[in-house]
Amino acid sequence: MSKQFDVVVIGGGPGGYIAAIRAAQLGFQVACVDEWKNAAGGPALGGTCTNVGCIPSKALLQSSEHFDHANHHFAEHGISVGKVQMDVGQMLARKDLVVKQNNDGIQYLFKKNKVTFFHGRGAFVGSTDAGHTVQVSGATEETLTAKHVIVATGSNARALPGTPFDEVNVLSNDGALRVGAVPKKLALIGSGVIGLEMGSVWRRLGADVTILEGLPTFLGAVDQQIAKEAKKAFDKQGLKIELGVQVGEIKVGKKGVSVAYTNAKGEALVLDADKLIVSIGRVPNTNGLNAAAVGLALDERGAIVVDADCKTNVSGIWAVGDVVRGPMLAHKAEEEGVAVAERIAGQHGHVNFNTVPWVIYTSPEIAWVGRTEQQLKADGVAFKAGTFPFLANGRARALGDTSGMVKVLADATTDEILGVHIVGPQASELIAEAVVAMEFRASSEDIARICHAHPSLSEATKEAALAVDKRALNF
Ligand code: FAD
Ligand code: NAI
Repeated sequence: MSKQFDVVVIGGGPGGYIAAIRAAQLGFQVACVDEWKNAAGGPALGGTCTNVGCIPSKALLQSSEHFDHANHHFAEHGISVGKVQMDVGQMLARKDLVVKQNNDGIQYLFKKNKVTFFHGRGAFVGSTDAGHTVQVSGATEETLTAKHVIVATGSNARALPGTPFDEVNVLSNDGALRVGAVPKKLALIGSGVIGLEMGSVWRRLGADVTILEGLPTFLGAVDQQIAKEAKKAFDKQGLKIELGVQVGEIKVGKKGVSVAYTNAKGEALVLDADKLIVSIGRVPNTNGLNAAAVGLALDERGAIVVDADCKTNVSGIWAVGDVVRGPMLAHKAEEEGVAVAERIAGQHGHVNFNTVPWVIYTSPEIAWVGRTEQQLKADGVAFKAGTFPFLANGRARALGDTSGMVKVLADATTDEILGVHIVGPQASELIAEAVVAMEFRASSEDIARICHAHPSLSEATKEAALAVDKRALNF
């Protein structure tokens, strides 16, 4: 006997669990199916983001940053702590606790919002007049039917052909977050977001880290002035990044991994390391979903094909987050989840893809929203640019972190802000002001005229906006 719901959500990551909560808020009977298991085999809601993504990586970044500060920055404040030691086991245990708090938080939210949770894998069975039927198997065995199904099954790490993840020597993001001791030598392939964040964690803890990147340009999607500034900082920290390489044979032995590659000069080299993290992007996940049973269309990458409203080719089936087109970001998944729930309720759910912020949580942090200088040039848009370095910001000096800058790009005629790019301390928090400004279609003059607290890092944003009109006050 099938259980009838108004909405069934498959996947309990940020796209799915948020869609489920919003749908329940709107008065629907909602079920959410998620298969993720914690170490004890129990449910672990929150998907990639909570279990092996955003949350645990930020926990390790925080721990390793404390270690780095204690080693290299406490002395300048007059603090002496003797020999600083790292207990990797304790760091991982703390990270696991942070993950569990988030898992439990989502279970609590489901109870509070009366979302019925099923722990197991959801697979399509077919469609009838009663709706679409989903079979749950695993810890729970159940058949669910609903007029609306939201697929939020996320993504998986992409492996290099011929080199599967063993999570001992060849690590995906999952294994990279569970390394039990600081490796002497760590190799990474791909200097994208994961490569830089995980490379930073283990470098700060003392590993000799080399990242091999296929493209000749460092962070090609980032404003190149910002990317260059970030690269300078990473070089200074000793994070070795080799651009324009071609990775060849990878040999995995008992003692580690050796990566044969050709560098940008065409020289054939071998990189030996204790561990290898492969961070070359992620692939949409529809494993076990049995998409064919309902005729769900997938594209050549395996992503579920959706329109701008997250509607699939099958009426009543929607898809959000990493399993569809667009940036693979938790907040993008969440926005789509909310918008879909609202559309099911007949409301005008809305996602503005032009104002989705990006953050890379390295030190300095990198954050941006809107178009880069190179994109504006390619689009033939006339723009004015204003930059302001944290070196000239009082709060940054007091913090002891003056690396980087804020850059504001505005339309040359209307002064509307087209992009804001930040590399520097707390860029992840500073970018929110830029997102709000762009949502309200503010001009650079608007930010320049707003009173910002002193001393604060946000004054750098105001000064960069003033600089668009060549009237920065403190530089
Ligand atoms: P997911 O979070 O992948 O969730 C999908 C869920 O569906 C999983 O629980 C999975 O088990 C479940 N599932 C799949 N198939 C089925 C099925 N058939 N039946 C039942 N359940 C199923 N993004 C940010 O915005 N900020 C960050 O700082 C950030 N850091 C990251 C760090 C790392 C190391 C990684 C790997 C990713 C990071 N991301 C970050 C990206 C972010 O994790 C994803 O964009 C986000 O998790 C996507 O959400 P989602 O709901 O689409 O999918
Ligand atoms: P990515 O797309 O950010 O970077 C992959 C890098 O690998 C690229 O620079 C690419 O040129 C390179 N590459 C690809 N194939 C290669 C090869 N064969 N040899 C050498 N280099 C190769 O992907 P990543 O780092 O795996 O992260 C996946 C996604 O997860 C991100 O794009 C992002 O959407 C999300 N994420 C977000 C975070 C955040 O918001 N702070 C943190 C971590 C991940």
